Amino acid sequence: MTLTGRVLAWGVPRLRDLPWRHTRDPWEVLVSEVMLQQTQVPRVIPKWHAFLAEFPTTAACAAAPLGDVLRCWQGLGYPRRARNLHATAMEVERLGAFPRSLDGLLALPGVGAYTARAVLAFAFEADAAVVDTNIARVYARHEGTRLTPKQVQTLADAQVPAGDAWAWNQCLMDLGAVLCRPSAPGCAECPLVDTCAWQGRGDDPAIGSAGVSRTQARFEGSDRQARGRLMRVLSSRPVPVTDVAAVMGCATDRADRLVASLVHDGLVVRDGDRLRLP
Ligand code: ADE
Repeated sequence: MTLTGRVLAWGVPRLRDLPWRHTRDPWEVLVSEVMLQQTQVPRVIPKWHAFLAEFPTTAACAAAPLGDVLRCWQGLGYPRRARNLHATAMEVERLGAFPRSLDGLLALPGVGAYTARAVLAFAFEADAAVVDTNIARVYARHEGTRLTPKQVQTLADAQVPAGDAWAWNQCLMDLGAVLCRPSAPGCAECPLVDTCAWQGRGDDPAIGSAGVSRTQARFEGSDRQARGRLMRVLSSRPVPVTDVAAVMGCATDRADRLVASLVHDGLVVRDGDRLRLP
């Protein structure tokens, strides 16, 4: 059987039942993919439902102040993602429809090579090859070597079965998440073991390969933690500038620097002697 045939035969009967796999609405798909970029599946599921209950369409999201979108994003972290979704909603409203081409999607705020292809494959069922961290790991291991971004995308593009890109990409993601895991891979059950160059033996070719994420930087004591504390309090009330260091749990000079970056990113507004959400 072909490589695609083996992956589909393994994956289709086992496809994880995830809520975004029941929709082809580009906005709903985009929201799921943006959330999944830096957040694990179990944490995304309730947030995806809540976000779409509040902002079911690009029109609903575009009409809301960014602060409301950030409030709804609370707890997911990396709030620039929410700002970009809000900007994309406004852009789609301006265009009158969701772009359906790769270039059109890439022109949306915060939409990169991965997200654009995910919308093509998962919303429009177009023949696009998605390369997320799970899929990049599968390819590097199967090839037995570290790959460049161009190499992995070229390999992936060549595999897409015409007309079946939706199932193909979802199955390959599940193969990476369920069997071809970062550590302790389940090679014995893998449909690709016969042609895999690595087979779980020796140095892992996925380490340092393009698109394969490294373990997340520690959160405790990080800038991300301090920013997150401020964003959480701002979700319920404005914060006097004089209270910022206490809210963030860090020294004043560090707090000032972090606030400046949040203001620069459009996530926080300074209003006289208080900070608030936009
Ligand atoms: N991670 C990124 N996209 C995903 C999807 N569509 N299903 C499961 N995990 C994902």
